[in-house]
Amino acid sequence: MLSNSHSYPQYIDEARKEQALNLWRSGGVVAFPTETVYGLGADARNGEAVAHIYALKSRPRFNPLIIHVADTTIAKRYVEWTPMAEALARFWPGPLTLVLKRKGEIADITAAGGDTVGVRIPAHPVTHALLEAFDGPIAAPSANRSGRISPTTAQHVEREFGADLPLIIDGGACIVGLESTVIDVSGEKPCLLRPGAITRAMLEEALGQPLHEAPGDDRLKSPGMLASHYAPGKPLRLNATACEAGEGLLAFGPDVPAAETVLQLSATGDLNEAAANLFACLRALDEHPHVTRIAAMHVPDMGVGEAINDRLRRAAAPKDA
Ligand code: TXA
Ligand code: MG
Repeated sequence: MLSNSHSYPQYIDEARKEQALNLWRSGGVVAFPTETVYGLGADARNGEAVAHIYALKSRPRFNPLIIHVADTTIAKRYVEWTPMAEALARFWPGPLTLVLKRKGEIADITAAGGDTVGVRIPAHPVTHALLEAFDGPIAAPSANRSGRISPTTAQHVEREFGADLPLIIDGGACIVGLESTVIDVSGEKPCLLRPGAITRAMLEEALGQPLHEAPGDDRLKSPGMLASHYAPGKPLRLNATACEAGEGLLAFGPDVPAAETVLQLSATGDLNEAAANLFACLRALDEHPHVTRIAAMHVPDMGVGEAINDRLRRAAAPKDA
């Protein structure tokens, strides 16, 4: 079982670092670790390089990518900075993406043709060192095929893309384990587009105002909000209190009903631990030979629990939703 109490490998050897930088500078795609999930990165200014990411993932071209930078000075080259952005930058480096009006040399395809772009400063030390040396914006979605579960280890990426990628940088298991919180602060009112480890309460406290829900027509703008997403191949049932034949239990907390196959998110009921374990547990149940359906126990909706439940609901939604 993964644990979120380990520490990351703090160093990347120089040869690897040079290899990654050379790939990025020549329009290549590199898989890299972040504190949330692994990403598939390319120079956000290079339309052809970014097109390659869309092709690798079979990602619809209307779904914009997040740019990753080393610091706010670099971020300000590519987005219109605002007071709300300033108030939220306190969570950087960290699992928060700000959607802002874009400017500068970001390729249109990176922003899916829109006038905004998502930006974040990831906290993983290896990736931070790479971004600092690159001194530019790296466009990166999660390193999974479109609509599938995000990868939280280098091995997940290897299994999904293997030979299709020239370089996968192994930075250990992701400590947060859920994709970043996405908040649109490009307009007058802050809109939460995707819940994550930077919680609603943390954002409202920093902004001094309540968050708004994204209007319905923003749903295509942010396909992470589509009903079916982050989905395992097998059906998933929510709020399970008992297990039926053939089901594998995704357990949370100390009181676990009898089941043949049990994977525990957190035996002590720790929501951060559960978030870090969620995607690896879903993958393991999805791949388990005796499991035909996944039964997920109730997870409380407080703090990062809102983001866990958001991902579980999307994993449970019918695939044509
Ligand atoms: O934690 C993360 O955010 C990871 C790591 C690699 O940084 N990245 C990630 O990227 O999850 P991706 O592409 O899998 O998810 C980005 C989400 C999508 O739901 C996308 O629609 C939304 O953010 N998004 C990106 N740019 C946007 C924009 N300009 N307006 C609205 N939504 C946007
Ligand atoms: Mg994704």
